[in-house]
Amino acid sequence: MKGHFSKISSLLVSLLAFITLLHSTTAAATTAAARQHRYQRLKDKIVSLPGQPANVSFHQYSGYITVDKKQGRALFYWLIEVPTNNGPASSKPLVLWLNGGPGCSSIAYGAFEEVGPFRRPIFFSSILRLELVFRTRTLPSTKSPAIKEQLSQIIVRLNKGVKNPEINFKGFLVGNPLLDDYHDNIGTFEFWWNHGLISDTTYQILNETCPGSDNCIIKHTKIYMNRPDVQKAFHANVTRLPYPWITCSDIVRGSWTDSPTTMLPIFKELIKAGIRIWVFSGDTDAVLPLTGTRYSIKALNLKTLIDWHAWYDKDKVGGWSQVYEGMTYLTVKGAGHEVPMDRPRLALTLFAHFLKNITLPSSAHN
Ligand SMILES: *[C@@H]1O[C@H](CO)[C@@H](O)[C@H](O)[C@H]1NC(C)=O
Ligand SMILES: *[C@@H]1O[C@H](CO)[C@@H](O)[C@H](O)[C@H]1NC(C)=O
Ligand SMILES: *[C@@H]1O[C@H](CO)[C@@H](O)[C@H](O)[C@H]1NC(C)=O
Ligand SMILES: *[C@@H]1O[C@H](CO)[C@@H](O)[C@H](O)[C@H]1NC(C)=O
Repeated sequence: MKGHFSKISSLLVSLLAFITLLHSTTAAATTAAARQHRYQRLKDKIVSLPGQPANVSFHQYSGYITVDKKQGRALFYWLIEVPTNNGPASSKPLVLWLNGGPGCSSIAYGAFEEVGPFRRPIFFSSILRLELVFRTRTLPSTKSPAIKEQLSQIIVRLNKGVKNPEINFKGFLVGNPLLDDYHDNIGTFEFWWNHGLISDTTYQILNETCPGSDNCIIKHTKIYMNRPDVQKAFHANVTRLPYPWITCSDIVRGSWTDSPTTMLPIFKELIKAGIRIWVFSGDTDAVLPLTGTRYSIKALNLKTLIDWHAWYDKDKVGGWSQVYEGMTYLTVKGAGHEVPMDRPRLALTLFAHFLKNITLPSSAHN
């Protein structure tokens, strides 16, 4: 990430990769592997997080997934299952939720501000299992490949020509994204200027900071995640890192030197692969405003199937939408950079429709 964006500490991109697991690809798994799997499951099971409500009815797991043993790299994950009274978790879609930054923790933002079970129990009532992954442990010289769109690209390429792929990848949903540096810059400066956020001179000179939004949830998250009892319950920080946990890491951000300047070619490839792609924007976001996203989408040159129209949540307009061949774009009314935090109800409606692969209602209903 470059230029003005690097100054914006709250910059993050929500992404959702949506994966359904195959029922029993592991039928052929050896008993030894199965035993190892059971052992890891027990080891990663969260007994109880300090301060959690007494009545939680879902299972949680967390721990590290080693991605490069030699380099000492591992990803931390937190898997939350649907409540046990809603059928077996294995029958539900698995959602992978990643926040951007780059370098920001999906637990700090996704779980504690946006859609986590202790933040929004309703997201978990019946629809999904959620997996949040937060950044790698130690990154001396990270060549962080691939999150979000790039991860989707990798999965799609892996699955190409495979009959029963191990990861039955269905699609991805990405919110307030940075799709293309050039178009996003143009759209962002324009948005700031025509919303009266910057003067003519500033618009000409460009940049400078956006309205700050560091709020107290983040402060509490920082304190909570640094508690030794919380880290123990999460099976986290097992190597006793010599520095505290923070919500966005400058080390991760600063080491990502091969960040592509555009996601458009990857979008083209994924659209061609026929997976479900929805892009949404909180329409008051000044960090990655809808103007930039719309310019970027326009640059994809997709055929319009359903032109710009309002979508409804019951009797109220939830935002606007345009359906393209291979992709759906939506705005969410009155939401900023973190849509589920600002407009949880609209976010849930959008999210549920995405999971079911049905278009949002284009007229008021009850
Ligand atoms: C747990 O209890 C609280 C307060 O009584 C309630 O608001 C919440 O919905 C309950 N959660 C579950 C998962 O039952
Ligand atoms: C704003 O960003 C552009 C690059 O997008 C850069 O060329 C310019 O120097 C920056 N201006 C200010 C005032 O920071
Ligand atoms: C890891 O644990 C050590 C020792 O308890 C603590 O000093 C450090 O702040 C922790 N670091 C992170 C990143 O959680
Ligand atoms: C989503 O639904 C459309 C029809 O509305 C269908 O053509 C498409 O194949 C579905 N996509 C996925 C990924 O399930």
